[in-house]
Amino acid sequence: MKPSLEVPVSEGSPYPVYCGTAIEQFLPTVWDRDWRQAVIIGDSKTSALLGASVARSLGRLADSVLTLSFSAGEQNKTRQTKEALEDAMLQAGVERGCCVVAVGGGVALDLAGFVAATYLRGVAHIHIATSLLGQVDAAIGGKTGVNTPCGKNLIGAFHNPRAVLLATQCLSTLPEVELRYGMAECVKHAVVGSPPLLDAIESCPPDPPSDSIVLQSARVKVAVVARDEREQGLRRVLNFGHTVGHAIEAATGYLVPHGQAVAWGMLVEATLARERFGMPETDLERIRAVIGRLGLRRPAPCPFDRLSDHWLKDKKTQQGQVHCSLPCRIGVMADQANGWRTPVRMQMLRRAWEDVFK
Ligand SMILES: NC(=O)c1ccc[n+]([C@@H]2O[C@H](COP(=O)([O-])OP(=O)(O)OC[C@H]3O[C@@H](n4cnc5c(N)ncnc54)[C@H](O)[C@@H]3O)[C@@H](O)[C@H]2O)c1
Repeated sequence: MKPSLEVPVSEGSPYPVYCGTAIEQFLPTVWDRDWRQAVIIGDSKTSALLGASVARSLGRLADSVLTLSFSAGEQNKTRQTKEALEDAMLQAGVERGCCVVAVGGGVALDLAGFVAATYLRGVAHIHIATSLLGQVDAAIGGKTGVNTPCGKNLIGAFHNPRAVLLATQCLSTLPEVELRYGMAECVKHAVVGSPPLLDAIESCPPDPPSDSIVLQSARVKVAVVARDEREQGLRRVLNFGHTVGHAIEAATGYLVPHGQAVAWGMLVEATLARERFGMPETDLERIRAVIGRLGLRRPAPCPFDRLSDHWLKDKKTQQGQVHCSLPCRIGVMADQANGWRTPVRMQMLRRAWEDVFK
């Protein structure tokens, strides 16, 4: 069975990405006969939905299958949860020649990937991505990690999966709001590198997106990480909408969910892009319309001063200038010479913010 995409990596062979393939078909296709032990890691929801069928498939491929799960939710993407998973694996005698099979959204993938990165100094892992955000973003690119009270994703490692399944058949059980958050990332990918994807999103119904949209979006991520595996430069373009988005999350004590914060962050940064790089008004209007259609509520009133306080405390802010990755038009990102990020004065950010939140 041919994968839909392949992700080249600096060390070793490219890893395959399958889309919409049944789990019981995917696992035997990618399973390495040397992996004698399988460890399934999912969150409480994805384990309840899929744990048993994944374990059945793996039972035909490995000598032993250990199923582990943790409570669903971003608040559990912690060192403590990682430690509990590792302890369970150590107690069960899981050895180096195992494979960790992560089943879930971005939280389960990041956490299980990080367990795999450090368990016995690194073991193989596979991603079965069940949320839209997991499929178009977290499953690809080898970033793994956990949050700490000081911030999100601060502890982690690059550790590429051996194979990825974008399990689009699972989207039917994903809560609608999670679909919208995932669609916000698809819009980001379209603006960053795929005008045809934006056309497709504009004409799709607001239900679970087609496999074609998931795949086109994942393809943008693959194209970027293939050229910049370790975030030395180009990978920064994926931060479009995130400078403002992260600040909204932090300034509201993480009460605004990530997908919603990034959607509004993109609106502010696209407005900034019009001012800084002359992004055409028609492009800005399309971005506004497509994000508007996602129906993600405007974040609760958050004065700009709270965001600027957040930025001024951030070590990355130099001489009162914040860095943003901005498009000059849909599909073309600006400032390659500057490592794909543009220093922006607080005053200019304030104007863009007020333009969006007037
Ligand atoms: N590693 C990366 O490159 C990368 C990129 C983007 C985001 N992320 C990370 O991803 C995380 C967010 O991912 P997320 O939005 O998928 O969150 P999530 O994993 O918490 O999933 C959202 C919710 O949907 C549930 N769920 C998942 N699949 C389901 C299904 N098929 N049916 C029913 N419920 C399902 C989960 O249990 C959870 O309650 C963040 O921690 C973020 O940092 C990582």
